[in-house]
Formats: sequence, structure tokens, C-alpha cells
Amino acid sequence: MRRGLFVSVEGGEGAGKSSVIAAARATLDARGIPHRMTREPGGTPLAEALRALVLDPAHAGLTREAEVLMMFAARAQHVAEVIRPTLEAGSWVLSDRYTDASFAYQGGGRGVPVAALDWLEAFATHGLRPDRTILLDVDVDEGRRRVAGRGGDRDRMEQEDDDFFERVRRAYLARAAADPGRFRIIDAARPLERVVADVVAELASLADRWR
Ligand code: TMP
Repeated sequence: MRRGLFVSVEGGEGAGKSSVIAAARATLDARGIPHRMTREPGGTPLAEALRALVLDPAHAGLTREAEVLMMFAARAQHVAEVIRPTLEAGSWVLSDRYTDASFAYQGGGRGVPVAALDWLEAFATHGLRPDRTILLDVDVDEGRRRVAGRGGDRDRMEQEDDDFFERVRRAYLARAAADPGRFRIIDAARPLERVVADVVAELASLADRWR
């Protein structure tokens, strides 16, 4: 059986990830491509429990060391229980965030050394990287405006300041520049229909080559 493709979607706050993911799923459905949608942190009962803890604003004093270990603990379980078996069964996996988010948020945002992240990545995922990563890039001011428009409570990450999100954005862009074969950077400051159209085209081309 042909192994499924692993696609991750990344981006800062307010980049339009949810709309893009809905369109990506519809594209795969229309082509009859079996897929499983998932997210990080999360995707298994244990990882969802860790997500609730790590994003809870009540844990304001969480150290960056504990934070990064919780992200990777959730990921290790997610890879073993969901991502790898799904790919091996011939389905695609579409993940709302994956390891690049740790390099961006914990590396860029919190200053966790890249060498530590590299080690944790190898340990937790046994080297499983996405076949394609779609990075929705939007400047911090515009992302903030969109999130503010949504209302609702902000989680522990969303409460960080603009400098934090500037560092996250720069770390994502640096990571994408270092691996142009895997990343597709999409300018998410444009109207949503154009962003979605680019993502649909990317997924359609991947799907046509996979078949
Ligand atoms: P989201 O899925 O709603 O975007 O929320 C997940 C939050 O967790 C988001 O602020 C990014 C953050 N995050 C990390 O800091 N590190 C990680 O490794 C992952 C997967 C997410």
C-alpha cells in the first residue's frame, strides 16, 4: 500500500489557518483521497489533556523548559498513536501545526536553544517530518487585528506581546528559508479567497502527483 502524505499547516495568530484547513479537506474529499485531520498540541486524548494544561492562562508561571517538554510529550504520543499509523495505512494526515511550531514559538518566542529542539524532535518523532508544510505568513499587526475581531478569551500564548509574535514569525520564515523543498510560504495578508485558492492549488497538485 502506498504511504499517505503528511501535510502540516503553520502560521501565526490570525493567519486564517482554520479556513485554509477546511478548504484543504474539501480538496482532498473531492479527489477521493483518504485523510485524517488532526492538530497540535493535541490529536490524542493524552495530548489534548496536555494541550488544555499548556494553553491554560492559569499556568502563567510555566517555565519554558516545562512548556517545550509538554509540547514534545504531546507530539510523541500523537506521532506514535495517530500520525505514523495513519500514513502507513495509506491515508494522508493533515495537521494543524507540528514540530515547526515548537521551533517558532519555543525557539523563536521563548529562546529555547535550537540544539535542544533538534534533539527533542529526533527523540519524539523518530525523524518524522511533513512531506509538505504550508506556512501562512501575515505580519503581526494584521494578525492581531483579526484575532481581536473574533472576541473570546485569549489562551496563554495569545496573551504574549507583539515582540514575542515578531520572533515567532521570524523563526518560521527562517525555518522555511532553510528548507524550501518542504515549505510553501503563502502570503496570508491578502484577501482570504486568494489565500485559500493558493492552498487548494497546492493540495490539488500534491494529490495529482500522489495518485
Ligand atoms: P492553535 O492551534 O489554536 O493555533 O493553538 C495552539 C497554540 O500553541 C498556538 O499559540 C501555538 C502554540 N504551540 C506552541 O507554542 N508550540 C507547539 O509546538 C505547538 C504545536 C503549538
